[in-house]
Amino acid sequence: MKKGKVTVIGAGHVGATTAHWAAIEGLGDIVLMDVLEGIPQGKALDQSQFRSIHGISCDITGTNDYRDTRDSDVIIITAGIARKPGMSRDDLLATNVKIVKDVTEKALEQSPDAYVVVVTNPIDAMVYTSFKASNLPKNRIVGMAGVLDSARYRSFLADAIGVSPKDVNAIVMGIHGDYMLPLARLANVAGVPVTELLSKDEIDAIIKRTQGGGAEIIGHLKTGSAYYTPAAAAVEMAKSIMFDEKRVLPCACYLEGEFDISGYFLGVPAVLGANGVEKILKFNLTKEEKELLKQSVEKVKEQVASVNKVLGW
Ligand code: APR
Repeated sequence: MKKGKVTVIGAGHVGATTAHWAAIEGLGDIVLMDVLEGIPQGKALDQSQFRSIHGISCDITGTNDYRDTRDSDVIIITAGIARKPGMSRDDLLATNVKIVKDVTEKALEQSPDAYVVVVTNPIDAMVYTSFKASNLPKNRIVGMAGVLDSARYRSFLADAIGVSPKDVNAIVMGIHGDYMLPLARLANVAGVPVTELLSKDEIDAIIKRTQGGGAEIIGHLKTGSAYYTPAAAAVEMAKSIMFDEKRVLPCACYLEGEFDISGYFLGVPAVLGANGVEKILKFNLTKEEKELLKQSVEKVKEQVASVNKVLGW
């Protein structure tokens, strides 16, 4: 069987951690690509030396040349600037939109059959940028957001209830930002509704903390934003595509009528397999949930308008 190949664009905190995690998960050969000379080479060389310890046989290489990314199965885009204290994800848009357009075009020139996972923030706008820049069919491009937000939500719920995060099932839909929608109604611990285990006030506090989960970490780090769980989330998505796992993962998908939304990327539960986004799992939202999702859509519309303005689309 042909060995898989994953290119991670951006060898910063998120990108390097994604490459590390992808190698450990056995996704195939890993190429780390960045504009900075030496950084991807040095980090890839360092990572290639843990292969004997972890028992991994893949190649891990670093480059500044897109030709080395040729024939990748999955391209994970993390290139761009990260948030600092006081910045919103929207503040990154004007800079990152140009970077994401550029790296999408260059990467797909070398790997026209690849699936693309966009991690750069603001994710819902950057995945739209990559989609428009690439002209890829909607099943081949997806944004990482819901897996990270749901991981945060599940972690906070687990700690509050005193159970393993592994047994907490919960989904966060909508935009990756303040208007994300952590659904309490569907959250459960091994099937037991969390609404039976925690008070409304406790759940509301956890929802608020999830919505501000990225900012909480920036508040500690001061010089950058989260990267361990964003990287793990991106790899979980890439793995489901490369190994045709058909995992149901909340991701930013291009919607054409699902949840009454059309023409935008937004976080929804999706089946990820060998054909990328194979299906979106639709279900009925309550009136209140629909209202909250509408706020997410309005915010994404604003971001997309800014993207179109910056790029003259
Ligand atoms: N091509 C390739 N790499 C680029 C380009 C480009 N055109 N422009 C910038 N980069 C690289 C930078 O050189 C840097 O190494 O992207 C990397 C970004 O790394 P960090 O500054 O460490 O940022 P990081 O924490 O990794 O976040 C990257 O992911 O989660 C999101 O919000 C986060 O948008 C941010 C992105």
